[in-house]
Amino acid sequence: MESLSKNFIVIIVVQITVYQSFIFLVISVVTRFHQKPALAAATTVTPTVEPSSTDSNIALEDQEKNFEEHLTVNPNDIEALQALMEVRIKSKKLPQAIEVIDRLIELEPEDDEWPMLRAQILSYSGDYAQAKNEFEGIIAKDPARVEAFHGLVMAYSESGQKLKELEKRIEGAMEKCKNEKKNKDFRDFKLLIAQIRVIEGNHSEALRVYEGLVKEEPRDFRPYLCMGIIYSLLKKKDEAEKYFEKVRRLVPRNHPYREYFVDNMVATKLFSEKAEREGA
Ligand SMILES: *[C@@H]1O[C@H](CO)[C@@H](O)[C@H](O)[C@H]1NC(C)=O
Repeated sequence: MESLSKNFIVIIVVQITVYQSFIFLVISVVTRFHQKPALAAATTVTPTVEPSSTDSNIALEDQEKNFEEHLTVNPNDIEALQALMEVRIKSKKLPQAIEVIDRLIELEPEDDEWPMLRAQILSYSGDYAQAKNEFEGIIAKDPARVEAFHGLVMAYSESGQKLKELEKRIEGAMEKCKNEKKNKDFRDFKLLIAQIRVIEGNHSEALRVYEGLVKEEPRDFRPYLCMGIIYSLLKKKDEAEKYFEKVRRLVPRNHPYREYFVDNMVATKLFSEKAEREGA
């Protein structure tokens, strides 16, 4: 099977927050090709769906120590820095992950992935004001950068800001993509629009957009993942499972970030079961 481990970026954020009986779910999936492998994946879930085993945490601590030791001898090893950053993200040590990214920015000032990761992690760690500034800085340089708009959508919605103005800007960026025939970017923006509908609680409209995306490109797993999650929120388990099965089939076994899809699906399922028990 063709290796997807290089030149493949997956950014998945599944954020599930429970406010008493009010359930709010934001899912975002952006998959893009780039020059360098990089990863941003963060899962914010309620403590009840957190993996209870501490084994994986111990393993992560060991890994972190190993990379740190390696880096004391080879302080400019980009791959080791990147691995250290990933381990720290997985261990939810976000300020420490940002320290590593700052080092990567120093070493590779031309690489525009690092500032993007920095802004995303600031946002995950709750520093929305700073995250917004940095996303805006990225958009100022590259007005159709879908991940930066995606980051703004997340930061706006997490900090309770309205999305209307931002959606207008997104439509402007989409127009630009259309004129420049950037079809891949255009499709990514459509996923983002669907996500805004999910944030607004307009599930039927979100599903309509995802169905359109499936018609255009049936081999893209992202709309199926989003649909699976929406159907599990709507407590249509069988329907949800159909879509998750498609995701499993379309994401290669050896995909480096497969665990994130699988983990996120599991988290979502546990979460909807919990919501059911509580009659939420
Ligand atoms: C859902 O979105 C569509 C398209 O934007 C809109 O026409 C419709 O009124 C929305 N429905 C709700 C319940 O907000």
